Amino acid sequence: MPKLKLITFGCQANELDSERITGLLLREGYTLTEREEDADLILLNTCAIREKAEHKVYSRLGTFQVLKRQRAGLKIGICGCVAQQEGQALLKRFPYLDFVVGPGQLTAIAPLLQAGTARGLATARAPGYSYPVDAPVQRQNSIRAWVSIMEGCDRFCTFCVVPFTRGRERSRPPEEIVEEIRGLKRQGYREVTLLGQTVNSYGRKLTPPISFVELLRRIDHLVDGHMRVRFTSPHPSDVTDELAAALAELPSLCEQIHLPVQSGSDRILHRMKRGHDRDEYLEKVALLRAKAPEIAITTDIIVGFPGETEEDFQATLDLMQEVGYDGAFIFKYSPRPHTEAEEMPDQLSEEVRGRRLEQALVLMNRLSLERNRAYLGRTVEVLVNREDAKGDSVRHSGRTRQNKIVHFSGEGVEDGSVVSVAITWASALYLQGEMVCL
Ligand code: SAH
Ligand code: SF4
Ligand code: F3S
Repeated sequence: MPKLKLITFGCQANELDSERITGLLLREGYTLTEREEDADLILLNTCAIREKAEHKVYSRLGTFQVLKRQRAGLKIGICGCVAQQEGQALLKRFPYLDFVVGPGQLTAIAPLLQAGTARGLATARAPGYSYPVDAPVQRQNSIRAWVSIMEGCDRFCTFCVVPFTRGRERSRPPEEIVEEIRGLKRQGYREVTLLGQTVNSYGRKLTPPISFVELLRRIDHLVDGHMRVRFTSPHPSDVTDELAAALAELPSLCEQIHLPVQSGSDRILHRMKRGHDRDEYLEKVALLRAKAPEIAITTDIIVGFPGETEEDFQATLDLMQEVGYDGAFIFKYSPRPHTEAEEMPDQLSEEVRGRRLEQALVLMNRLSLERNRAYLGRTVEVLVNREDAKGDSVRHSGRTRQNKIVHFSGEGVEDGSVVSVAITWASALYLQGEMVCL
């Protein structure tokens, strides 16, 4: 049986795509291997979000040239966002590459492989999309599952490649999503994360339209306390009273939100075309906290966007403190092809961007630690999942409803069970404690 080595970069959408690609290729008779040297097919599922992510792909691809010479019949393919962004150019630049497939064309991989020796390309000009409904998904984790509810993005923030690599926003029909989750529940999954680039704008373009909160209600009803439900990433402008109420009221819905802000300066937010200003964002945070006081809030931040002054940057630091984030992914701005911001004249030096990143990271570390220390002495509900252990076999690990990682000691703990843990220690990244019997 031919062997597949699949290497994944990028966000949860890509990880889920990799699980779908694996499912599709296992169906074609492939088996998985960890070792590139043993593989008959090496596939790179790629990310283009920042320059560094794209370079990682090229340097990895470069290492396969020798393998390709050594192993007759070895096929090398590239899929994901770099595939969509670069298309044909990749086949020219890497003569040993066999095929290039965009994220909307996963079902094209098997036919390309069967096509024999010809080199192939399956990326759409305007990235199209066919969701392989009947395709099996080979999931990595047996407790938590990702479910894509929408793909693509219509927002065109001026720094972002996603609308170019993943195309326009398309929502899956609610019945299809509910059916998939019904299957996951039957298989014993304990948590589902609904995925979309602007996940809370779900359903508007469907006929008949359906709101994101209505979908959440249907899912909550279906899982009936057997599964936790999360979603990522929502857009601040589409955080409604209804959504805040749902976070407080739906028992399955976890008290956690990843709410990207990008900048704390109105001037920069405007140049980013984010569609919200600082006050609107803070209002949304206040609304969420008013309804769901236990909510953990995390975010994405870009420092060093073109034209960002020290004052603008300070406004971002201020906003971080004002919100008191539980966590944040902080990135140095990276100019991307096709985007408006790439053309802006006032690009900042690497040095300035680097310094601001360091400064923001130091602040974030302090804020996370503060938030996590608030759990000391409290007892929290932990969904046990070995995956959170990161190689530590002595203790058990899992996550709270706020999505905080907890390492703890205790007897007779099973993967996928929900246990109570008294928190005794906190760092910026995780909590530690002891299991208690209530
Ligand atoms: N759909 C999500 C974000 C997807 S990209 C949303 O709109 O919130 C994940 C994060 O990468 C973004 O939130 C942003 O902080 C960061 N990012 C995107 N493009 C970037 C760029 N050109 N340079 C640096 N960071 C970027
Ligand atoms: Fe990119 Fe903005 Fe769309 Fe998020 S909302 S995927 S940052 S364009
Ligand atoms: Fe990267 Fe594409 Fe996700 S660019 S962040 S893999 S949508």
